[in-house]
Amino acid sequence: MSSPSWYPNELALAGRENLDMEHVARYDGKMDSSARDELSVLKGYGLNAQSTIIEFGAGTGQLTVEAARACARVVAVDVSPPMLAYLETKLSDQDLTNVTLVNAGFLSYTQPESQADFVYSRYALHHLPDFWKAIALDRMRKLLSPGGICRLWDVVYDFNPADATGQIETWCSQGGANVDGEWSRDEFEEHIRDEHSTFRWLLEPMIERAGFDIVEVQYTAETFDAKYVLRAT
Ligand SMILES: C[S@@+](CC[C@H](N)C(=O)[O-])C[C@H]1O[C@@H](n2cnc3c(N)ncnc32)[C@H](O)[C@@H]1O
Repeated sequence: MSSPSWYPNELALAGRENLDMEHVARYDGKMDSSARDELSVLKGYGLNAQSTIIEFGAGTGQLTVEAARACARVVAVDVSPPMLAYLETKLSDQDLTNVTLVNAGFLSYTQPESQADFVYSRYALHHLPDFWKAIALDRMRKLLSPGGICRLWDVVYDFNPADATGQIETWCSQGGANVDGEWSRDEFEEHIRDEHSTFRWLLEPMIERAGFDIVEVQYTAETFDAKYVLRAT
C-alpha cells in the first residue's frame, strides 16, 4: 500500500550532503561508525548467525558490512540513491550476498512479510521532524516481536532551551575548516539549522510511546551522542 499523499518526501528531508556523490565518497574517511563495537553490543543481546537485522539509514554501510558477516540476513534501507550505489559496490567487492538493499525510508519502507530480530539506526532518525520520528519509531517497533532489540544512536540534545546558544556554539566550535577527513564547522551548523535533532526529554517519551523499553542509554554531553538499546514490549 502506498503512503498517504500527506506523508513527507523523505528524500527532500534526507540532508543535502547525503545526496552529494562527493560527500558519499569521502564519508568513510571522516566517519568511523564503530561498527565492530556496535556488533559486539548487538551480540550481547543475542545477535547470531541466524539473525535478521534491518538497518535504517545504512549510508555507506559500515554497520551493514559487519552485520552481514555475522548474521543470516541484513536489510539495508536508505533513501539516498548515491549512498545505496556506494554500498552496493562495497558489498559486491567483498562478496557479501546476504544483504538486501532497499531504496526507501523510515516512513516508506514496506516489507510486510519480513519481521526482524534486530532493528538498527545510527545518525539517521534526526532527518525526520518530531511528529514523523514518533511515526518512524512506531513502524520500527512493528518490525520486531516482543523482546526484539532496536539499537538507536543519534545526535540528541540534553539541555534547557534557554541554554541553547551556548551549548550549540560549543558544539559547532568542534568543527574544523575542511570537509575532507574531518567534520567542518559548516557541517555542524547545517546539522542544527537544516536537520531535526531533538531533545532527550522529547525523544525518550516518543520511544516509550512506540512500545519500547529503554534498556540502556549512554549519553555523551560534549558530542550530543545518545546511544540507546531498546527492547520491544
Ligand atoms: C549521517 S548518514 C549515517 C550513515 C550510517 N548510518 C552511519 O552511521 O555512518 C545518514 C543516512 O541516513 C539516510 N537517511 C536520511 N533520511 C532518511 C530516512 N528518512 N530514511 C532512511 N534513511 C534516511 C541518509 O541518506 C544517510 O545515508
